[in-house]
Amino acid sequence: YKEKPKFPDTFLWGASSAAWQVEGGVAEDGRTPAIIDLNSKKKKPYTDNSITADHYHHYKEDVALMAECGFSSYRFSISWSRIIPASDGVVNEKGIQFYNDLINELIRHHITPIITLYHYDMPVWVDEELGGWRDRRIIDAFDHYVRVCFEAFGDRVKYWLSINEQNMQIVYGKWLGIDKGCTDWEKEKWQINHIMNLCHAKAVIACHEMVADGKIGPVPGYVPIYPKSCKPADQIAAMNAEELTEKIWNDLYVHREYSNFVKKYWQLHDVDPDIRPGDMELIQQAKIDFFALNCYRSNTAMDCPPDESYLELQLNKEGIKGQFVYPKFPGEYQLCANPYVEVTDWDWEIDPIAMRYMLRYMWDHYRLPMMITENGIGAHDVLSEDGHVHDEYRINFLRDQIEQIGMAIEDGCEVWGYNPWSFTDLLSTGNGMAKRYGLVYVNTTDQEVLDLRRIKKDSFYWYSKLIKSNGQDL
Ligand code: BG6
Repeated sequence: YKEKPKFPDTFLWGASSAAWQVEGGVAEDGRTPAIIDLNSKKKKPYTDNSITADHYHHYKEDVALMAECGFSSYRFSISWSRIIPASDGVVNEKGIQFYNDLINELIRHHITPIITLYHYDMPVWVDEELGGWRDRRIIDAFDHYVRVCFEAFGDRVKYWLSINEQNMQIVYGKWLGIDKGCTDWEKEKWQINHIMNLCHAKAVIACHEMVADGKIGPVPGYVPIYPKSCKPADQIAAMNAEELTEKIWNDLYVHREYSNFVKKYWQLHDVDPDIRPGDMELIQQAKIDFFALNCYRSNTAMDCPPDESYLELQLNKEGIKGQFVYPKFPGEYQLCANPYVEVTDWDWEIDPIAMRYMLRYMWDHYRLPMMITENGIGAHDVLSEDGHVHDEYRINFLRDQIEQIGMAIEDGCEVWGYNPWSFTDLLSTGNGMAKRYGLVYVNTTDQEVLDLRRIKKDSFYWYSKLIKSNGQDL
């Protein structure tokens, strides 16, 4: 491009979080446990979410910092068990109060709230008394919960997101604990997925019914998949990986029917879900308004002949480069390293072009407006002796990503917001406070709760300048 890409005047600049990763206050004011709290206790210290950034008590300070940074949006999630703590469905007014206070504080600072209804935190009561995602009884319980949210907050909140990374919950269900209670995950995951689709559909329908001018979309986790080489079989492997990790979900949200690819896949593996009369008619009514996209990295796939042996993915938990083990799915694809990109300490590819690729791909396929709801770099940030956090690697990461968003806009894609992960440091899904993403450092560790002081990182000042120039001062 001859000139620096321009961002629309109405472009929303902010950041993103999720209730269980940022709030703490897990046993306060009537909130009951979520499954993820219990999992986190087991894996101590890595994922103990009982305090984390303690946003529950620091939200005013956090919103003031967002305003100082120049935010025009903030994407966060509601904790289901704070709103509906038990199976009697009674609304917890103190839970409503917390989110009302947060929303009002944001609006007072001219920050647009964007709310995710479900971000991995299944209430224990839903799991124990209704069978969690495995059982259709969750559909009504979820519908009740989302309707309470629309009723309570819909007068001020116009942008809603249904389920965070439904695709990743199915693809990586074993690592996220979604397989709890399942005896045959490979089959049951498609049933869980179908039930999630019904919950998503009901949330879309209820939002349009209840929220004046309300807009709602899903939040796929998107990882572009490149073929390892120009060998034709590698291209098909990349397409298989794309279908099995992303496209199945995105096609469903937009076309509101299951694709031929997934139906054939179910038949081949004998894993058809139980689709009942009326289900597809319900899904048909759920027309989404936009895509909210989470994108951190890219993947590369190569051909995996049917006679290869299956190899399970092994995540890099400890943050030591080179620990990640690529999975193999015989007859479908095998992931592999990409020699053209660097990786983070957790072996996540650092690939800004993935961002432009994603936006181009999603726009070409679906022609829906897009907002980025997650993007960022997890790192071992250090609080220096001078009292600052010098995270130039984060500035470089974000700069390169934003530049690519600008280029995608110049390419003709409709993109209306950027909310990287995360504003303050918060708990990572598997690596606790050790893997930090924030623009603001939170003074605490996995081993010891410290004073939770907020310290603006170098990236905070850089992002603030960038926002004030509407993306020009990169
Ligand atoms: C996204 C999730 O997939 O990735 C977030 O929506 C998560 O909840 C983020 O925190 C980063 O992953 P991790 O494992 O580094 O925390």
